[in-house]
Amino acid sequence: MSIHSEDSRRVTTHRLLEMKHRCEKISMLTAYDFTMGSIVDQAGIDIILVGDSASNVMCGNITTLPITLDQMIFLAKSVVRGVKRALVVVDMPFGSYQGNSKEALSSAIRIMKETHGDCLKVEGGEEIIESVKRILSAGIPVMGHLGLMPQSINKYGSYTVRAKEDIEAEKLIRDAHLLEETGCFAIVLEKIPAALAQRVALELTIPVIGIGAGGGVDGQVLVLHDMIGLTQNFSPRFLRRYANLQAIMNEAIEHYVADVKSGFFPNQNEQY
Ligand code: KIV
Repeated sequence: MSIHSEDSRRVTTHRLLEMKHRCEKISMLTAYDFTMGSIVDQAGIDIILVGDSASNVMCGNITTLPITLDQMIFLAKSVVRGVKRALVVVDMPFGSYQGNSKEALSSAIRIMKETHGDCLKVEGGEEIIESVKRILSAGIPVMGHLGLMPQSINKYGSYTVRAKEDIEAEKLIRDAHLLEETGCFAIVLEKIPAALAQRVALELTIPVIGIGAGGGVDGQVLVLHDMIGLTQNFSPRFLRRYANLQAIMNEAIEHYVADVKSGFFPNQNEQY
């Protein structure tokens, strides 16, 4: 039985704020399709992120950059159909909001109209603040994302821990405050020192969700396929694998192949 079975009310941005204020940790996972979305939702997750990590996990790209607005919309629509309780956040893909705020708003409106997701997530601080303001002005809730921002991988050159140096840490703190003042309802902090993430979570009144940012924040997010062990070639220190589904699937599929080859499947009861 899910720990949330007694509370089947939909999660809203307002309820997330209340959770922060009563120090209840927020749980968040990615999902990219109907089946996974409904499994994750039924297990009692608070937020489902239709992440642009779908570019890696679902499409096999090396980075998140190639995934398109149309592809994100296709995936998000499928997830939303499977979700009854969790708040569904959809990542705005690379190139759909950085150009100018007008373009950002039309991408945002397309996602909201076509997917029926609840909110959007964007990467960056000061550089994209006009886009954030314009999207918010249309009544669309926005989640920020600072620290390691995979859409900027070509600027960084690697996926190492961000904001270890003072200058970058100070900019991150400024950006976090700016996103809060502009009206974001929450922020994701990715792969930064735990002490810095805790400081940001303490200073902000909105929820701060971490991935590789330690336990001092208001909630945690992981990529579903990594935490259930469907992917095996990605093992950063922050990743805890709660299952090894790749091994379970391999065994099941090998068993099926052997049964088909030997004629053991189908049997008398499995035919018409
Ligand atoms: O796309 C994604 O999965 C994300 C999480 C890593 C936060 O942005």
